[in-house]
This record gives sequence, C-alpha cells and structure tokens, in this order.
Amino acid sequence: MTKLMLAANWKMHLGPEAARGFLHAYLQRHRSAPDREVWFFPSAVALEAVAQATRDRRDIRVGAQNVHWEAKGAFTGELSVSMAAEAGAAAALVGHSERRHVFGETDDEAGRKVRAVLTGGLTPMLCVGERIEERDAGQTLAVVARQLAALGGLDAATLGRIVVAYEPVWAIGTGKTATPADAAEVHAAIRRWFADRGVRSVRVLYGGSVKPENAAELVAEREIDGLLVGGASLDPASWAAITAVRAPD
Ligand code: PGA
Repeated sequence: MTKLMLAANWKMHLGPEAARGFLHAYLQRHRSAPDREVWFFPSAVALEAVAQATRDRRDIRVGAQNVHWEAKGAFTGELSVSMAAEAGAAAALVGHSERRHVFGETDDEAGRKVRAVLTGGLTPMLCVGERIEERDAGQTLAVVARQLAALGGLDAATLGRIVVAYEPVWAIGTGKTATPADAAEVHAAIRRWFADRGVRSVRVLYGGSVKPENAAELVAEREIDGLLVGGASLDPASWAAITAVRAPD
C-alpha cells in the first residue's frame, strides 16, 4: 500500500520556539494512522526542534525546504544536504515555485540539487508546475516535462526514490485550487514520464491552496498520492484536519 503523504511547507514562518509550540498543539490533535505519513518542512533553523519534538512518532518525518548542490564550501547562506540530515531531515524540497520564480532557480540547478539530495541518502521532493499564462497557452504538460527533464540521465532505481509535487504556480497561496480532474491529468503525465524510464511507481503529490475543506476531494482522486500544503499547515487545528483526511479505499 502506498501511504498517503501529507506534507507541511512552512516557508519563512515558525522559528524553533514557534515550531515547538505548534507541535505541542498539533500532536495532541493528531492520531497516527498506518495509511499515512506526515511530513514537516520547517525553516532550516527549526529543523532540529521539529525533529526532536516528533522523534517518538514514527509516522512523522522532517525535511529541509532547500539545500545547495555542493557538499561544502564558500557558499554563504547556503545549507548542505549533510547539514540538513544532521539536523534531522530525511528529505528536501527541490525547485519549489518560490525558489524558481522569486530566487531565479533554474531547471539545471534543480537537477543538481536532486542529485545532491539522492547522493546524501535523503528523499528529494521535486516541485513542478506551470504559471497561469503557460496554462492558458496550453503549455502545462510541456512545462512540466521540461522541469522533469532536469532528472535526465538518472537510472530507474534512482528515479524511483524521487517524490514529485505538482504545484500549479497560479494555485499557490491564491485560494485557487486546481480541480481534482485538472491535477489528475498532470499527475498522469508525470507518471507516464517516469514509466517511460522504467519506473513503475512514483509518488505524486498535489499542492496549491489546499485547505481542510478541499483536502478530501483531492485525495479521493486516485492520481493524487498526497498533499503539499503551505498556508493551511501553519495552524495546528487546520493541519490536524488535513492530516486526518480520509484516503480512498
Ligand atoms: P499554499 O502553498 O498551500 O499556501 O498554496 C503551497 C506550497 O507553496 O507548497
């Protein structure tokens, strides 16, 4: 059984103290269940606090929001994969749309980061997704294919370790959610891309304005293996409601 993966992307919110306070409130509300895992992607400085506060909960995992592709060196302000791992991270987001569109990260850089995360033994969660003008121009699948091309050259066993999050840029933080059917079409294309390279199963999450009110209809879509959630993961009650969402039988 593929476990439902429910991931909180806290972005530039919640330092260590606020993170501990959040988890105190959340863990009282959240019951672990064998069919799902809950992931937190806190700020780098809160990684250790989140890892420690959740260390007795095997269904809860922690990841970094961003890492550099080099192992170490003169890269002021950057975080290496091994540093993230030492602080408790088991995964790292790569190529989130804010990294791409606010900080100018390229497909090539995302590809290098994915390789670094894999080399470090962590799970890369590669974020892909089109802007509204690209969707309107009918380019959604082409844009996603271009972003996936950053994984070119990796063998099937390695590709099989990657998680993909489809996050249409126009749906992030806007209150506009892709319909489950819209998301399913893109998720199916992502799965075909992996299948063409010999990967039988890949986890594909949806992200973009997920709320307690729409989480159930999204996970009811067979193509959606989990959710990557920003704004609605910042409130313990709302995140507890989302992480309790019922998966399809
Ligand atoms: P949102 O963010 O849930 O606030 O739209 C999702 C994300 O950026 O991962």
